Amino acid sequence: MRISGSTALVTGANRGLGARLVAELLRRDASTVYVAARDPESVAEDVRRDPRVRVLALDVTDPDSVTAAARACTGVDLLINNAGVLGFGDVLTGDLAVFERDLATNYLGALRVTRAWLPSLRAAGPRGAAVVNVLTLIALAPVAPMAGYCASKAAAHSMTQALRAAVRGDGIEVIGAYPGGIDTEMLAGVDADKADPAEVAARILTGVETGREIIWPDDASAGAGALYLGDPVQLETMLAA
Ligand SMILES: NC(=O)c1ccc[n+]([C@@H]2O[C@H](COP(=O)([O-])OP(=O)(O)OC[C@H]3O[C@@H](n4cnc5c(N)ncnc54)[C@H](OP(=O)(O)O)[C@@H]3O)[C@@H](O)[C@H]2O)c1
Repeated sequence: MRISGSTALVTGANRGLGARLVAELLRRDASTVYVAARDPESVAEDVRRDPRVRVLALDVTDPDSVTAAARACTGVDLLINNAGVLGFGDVLTGDLAVFERDLATNYLGALRVTRAWLPSLRAAGPRGAAVVNVLTLIALAPVAPMAGYCASKAAAHSMTQALRAAVRGDGIEVIGAYPGGIDTEMLAGVDADKADPAEVAARILTGVETGREIIWPDDASAGAGALYLGDPVQLETMLAA
């Protein structure tokens, strides 16, 4: 779908990848960008100054917050489910309360938001509409210290596939983006290769504009994604090691 002229909503848009997605949407001439954040005050002043920006209070885990936000904004034809949390813990000893929080945000939160904005996406008309779920390469095969996070993103990956089938025929594209490590607060303190979030945001939106249903938005995920598509067990073995 074309970004130029679109009305986009980005969750978790106050910082990290979400803030870079907002900047890139504006650079590509989106007509309105809803910048959704748990704390609207945390959205940077220079972003608020852009006349195309509307700041929206939105906690994806809170049904009342989602309902109120959906009522407060109109005409969204590009929904980007970006908000996410990462808790650490392995599959045998990880704190289940942390696993629950990741599921509540990364899976149920994204699903709740998607359901709330479906009427708006369905009403987009001939321009078409799109939902982009920001997933992760490790939704497809887990890494040991992030077992709960990986499971929550695997659930969100499954939701992406189910949604794609459910809205086929409604003029809504459903896109999964599967980044590798990104240099944001989420991975602060983790020693890993990390992509520039601005570049990841640009590659996600290029994927949207070129009609991709699966986006590998950095070099690491592009390489591992090719491996996954050819031999999923080989990726599982590689990431487990
Ligand atoms: N960083 C990576 O290596 C990496 C790799 C692959 C995929 N991803 C995915 O990319 C997305 C963005 O992550 P990031 O790297 O930008 O992380 P980040 O810097 O930690 O930012 C996370 C964002 O999500 C928001 N958020 C968390 N819980 C929320 C809730 N309940 N309701 C609304 N917003 C909420 C945060 O808001 P607050 O400021 O209020 O906390 C923040 O804006 C996530 O879905 C993440 O899983 C990240």
